[in-house]
Amino acid sequence: MADQIKVAIDIGTTKICVLVAKQVGTDFEVLGMGKYPSEGLEKGVVVNIAKAINSIKAAVKEAEIVSGQQIESAAVGISGSHINSINSNGVVPVNKTGKIKQTDIYNVLEAARAVPIAEGQQILHVLPQSYAIDGLGNIQDPLGMHGVRLEVQAHIITGSVASVQNIISCCEAVGIKVTDVILEQLASAAAVLNQDERQLGVAVLDIGGGTSDFAIYQHNSIMHTRVLPVAGNHFTHDIAVGLQTTLSEAERVKHMYGLASSICTNGDNNNNHGNSNNFSFEVLDIQGQDLQAIQQAFLTSIVEPRAEELVLLVLKEIETYKLRKFMTTGLVLTGGGSLLAGLPELATKILQVPVRLGAPRTEIVLSENLSNPIYATGYGLLIHLFKAQSKSNLNLVDGPTAVRVFYRMRTWVSDLF
Ligand SMILES: Nc1ncnc2c1ncn2[C@@H]1O[C@H](COP(=O)(O)OP(=O)(O)OP(=O)(O)O)[C@@H](O)[C@H]1O
Ligand SMILES: [Mg+2]
Repeated sequence: MADQIKVAIDIGTTKICVLVAKQVGTDFEVLGMGKYPSEGLEKGVVVNIAKAINSIKAAVKEAEIVSGQQIESAAVGISGSHINSINSNGVVPVNKTGKIKQTDIYNVLEAARAVPIAEGQQILHVLPQSYAIDGLGNIQDPLGMHGVRLEVQAHIITGSVASVQNIISCCEAVGIKVTDVILEQLASAAAVLNQDERQLGVAVLDIGGGTSDFAIYQHNSIMHTRVLPVAGNHFTHDIAVGLQTTLSEAERVKHMYGLASSICTNGDNNNNHGNSNNFSFEVLDIQGQDLQAIQQAFLTSIVEPRAEELVLLVLKEIETYKLRKFMTTGLVLTGGGSLLAGLPELATKILQVPVRLGAPRTEIVLSENLSNPIYATGYGLLIHLFKAQSKSNLNLVDGPTAVRVFYRMRTWVSDLF
């Protein structure tokens, strides 16, 4: 694999997406994509290694054929309820010259990682929020500045050693070395947020199939992250049970007629919600044989409580951690689940902030248009690989010896775009 070729693998609950790209100047060009339905994963976590390996293998093979490249290494996204985050401080004396060097920044981040971590967890990211020099705070990049005492306020992301190792093992089983393990909402945020939003303050919610990944940015730094356990597949299951139909029919019905709230009967996501609650449509029964007529109002009565549950989980997070002050420009919804019609309207009503849909800002069309919320994580992983220059050194991800792996630790601070 040539040096300037890099690969991102989004191992999602519903699909595996492999993107191959090459460096072009300061930017990158996507050479190919492989996509395959994901099996063996639940809520972002591997539950059946053999099935997960098969899905990854199929997606990788397709990406290799389309791009004409042999894939040897890749960055992968990680999510799941095993992900935790905490804020931490670190303090170190500046080197004798008094001028802050990269090693001082590395040392202070090392100091910040010295926090108690729950048994079975390992640190995935140490994300600096702001630095202070000799007590003077709010410094975004202290490199080259003068002082005697360097402090950092950092956001630390941890994940289960076993879950991380399972993802790595699945990739290794198909001959791929994992170079970076990146929290999925960091990748999605890189793909769908603009520089001003990240600076002024914004929240992003990537609603996937198994999990909804939440993150908050301000001053170009990550302020908060959380993985919420409600996402697109829960809606599909509710519809299948409520309408007594198959999962695939429930999925179709959700795309075509699903509406997150009865407050908006004018859906516009290229589907057929109609503009009246009397609208009805036909759905196969659970045997997949006979058709039954369903009123849209009935479907909405199944979907709406789940949509409210999801938005209320976000509201609880905002209120518990007093996050509203960071959400100056509102909330950006992405991931396939964000395509449910009426969700932005419902979220605006409950959260009382502006809500918009976010998709990767790209015009690349491969087998599909990449400017679709389902590709936010995969495309964001590429942005991370090509555009986030490392401001710190190599970092050892902690864990038992057997799973000790070196990853590049990247700061994700003001170095994207
Ligand atoms: N047009 C649509 N309307 C409603 N829901 C949709 C639409 N398109 C996709 N979805 C839903 O989006 C979800 C898949 O989104 P996505 O591809 O982002 O998930 P994933 O990355 O595989 O999962 P995860 O991130 O949770 O691991 C599915 O639940 C699917 O039903
Ligand atoms: Mg996803």
